[in-house]
Amino acid sequence: MVIQLDYDEAILEIKKIILRSDNILQDVVDFLYNKFDHYSWIGIYIVNDSNLILGPWNGPNATEHTKIPIGKGVCGSAALSGKTEIVDDVHSDDRYLSCFLSTKSEIVIPIKKNENIVGEIDIDSDKKAAFSKNDKIFLEKVADMLVEHI
Ligand code: SME
Repeated sequence: MVIQLDYDEAILEIKKIILRSDNILQDVVDFLYNKFDHYSWIGIYIVNDSNLILGPWNGPNATEHTKIPIGKGVCGSAALSGKTEIVDDVHSDDRYLSCFLSTKSEIVIPIKKNENIVGEIDIDSDKKAAFSKNDKIFLEKVADMLVEHI
C-alpha cells in the first residue's frame, strides 16, 4: 500500500534528480517506475504542433503509440482539455488507445507552461482503479517540477 510518506519522499528525491541529473526527464521516469509498484508503464509525451510525441519511457514493453494526435485517446483528451484524466477501467472508455494487454487503468497528467500544454505524463497500471486522489496530487506536482525541463 502506498502511504503519504512515500509521495513526500518521492518529491524530495525528484528535487535531487532535477538538481543533479543531466538527463532529467529519463531519470524522473525511471525513478517513478521503480518507486511505485502500481506504475506498470510510464512515459512522457512532448507536444509538437498538433501531436504528442513519445519521449522518455520505462516499462516492460515499448508502445506502438509514439505519435498521438491531440484530441485522440486518453492522452490526446488530456492534452486538449489541460485536465488530468483518470480512467479506472480502460476497457470501458471508448477513447482508450490500447498499448498493452495487461493494462487495466491509466492516468494522464498534462504538463502546463503558462496555461499552454507542453507535454504530459502517461502512466498505465496492470491494476484496476490503481490511481488515487493522492497519485493525482503527487503527479500534478511532479508535472509542475518538470515544466522547465521539457
Ligand atoms: N492509452 C493511451 C495511449 C498511450 S499508451 O497507454 C502508452 C491513450 O489512450 O491515449
